Amino acid sequence: MSQLPTLSVAEISSERLLLRKALHDSDREGLVELSTDPEVRAYIGGPQPRSEAERHFDEIMAADATCRPGNYVIADNTANQVIGTLMLARWWTDHPQRVTEDGEELVLGYVLRRSAWGAGYAFEAATAALRAAAEELPDQPVVLVTQTANKRSLRLAERLGFHFTTTFEEFDAEQALYTAPLSLFGN
Ligand SMILES: CC(C)(COP(=O)(O)OP(=O)(O)OC[C@H]1O[C@@H](n2cnc3c(N)ncnc32)[C@H](O)[C@@H]1OP(=O)(O)O)[C@@H](O)C(=O)NCCC(=O)NCCS
Repeated sequence: MSQLPTLSVAEISSERLLLRKALHDSDREGLVELSTDPEVRAYIGGPQPRSEAERHFDEIMAADATCRPGNYVIADNTANQVIGTLMLARWWTDHPQRVTEDGEELVLGYVLRRSAWGAGYAFEAATAALRAAAEELPDQPVVLVTQTANKRSLRLAERLGFHFTTTFEEFDAEQALYTAPLSLFGN
């Protein structure tokens, strides 16, 4: 795993959202839903059985989400209920599509509960995280990979200001690679 830093702040606030590293007991249902909802998982590996998702949450995810660098729960900033998750972490160094020589670019990923789609929450969360990262870290490429069939995610990538770079095959699907310099999101 990369030793380079990624976004380290414990919380990021935006107009309607709170991105937090801390997990709450009440997050369990929302996070399990993110792993089991067939619509949410359509382009990211398919749904997990509920029992598996619950076990994953209990055994691994509770530690993972709080400990892994660059991983956040997205909650609404009134009731603090889970809307989704966001990751702004290091890509893996030997990925064939890496855009830097050392493969240490940042990678952005996001998953929202189905009930939270179509409200601009993913855009708001990603913008807030990228802005916070641009304040904390030196300029560097950020990549975003999404299936070309995932039209909502493609639209979001372009709204955020990422540029389409190439397509490639992975996990039996055509993937689109988007890139942006982190400095694009700074002040
Ligand atoms: C990809 C995903 C996060 C996109 O969610 P989304 O809600 O469509 O994305 P945004 O936050 O950009 O919201 C944009 C939509 O909200 C609407 N909207 C409503 N109010 C808005 C506001 N205040 N501000 C901005 N947009 C708003 C926009 O018009 C747009 O709707 P449209 O796409 O129907 O035109 C979501 O579909 C998802 O979680 N999918 C499953 C996981 C996944 O595939 N992740 C990608 C792998 S990297």
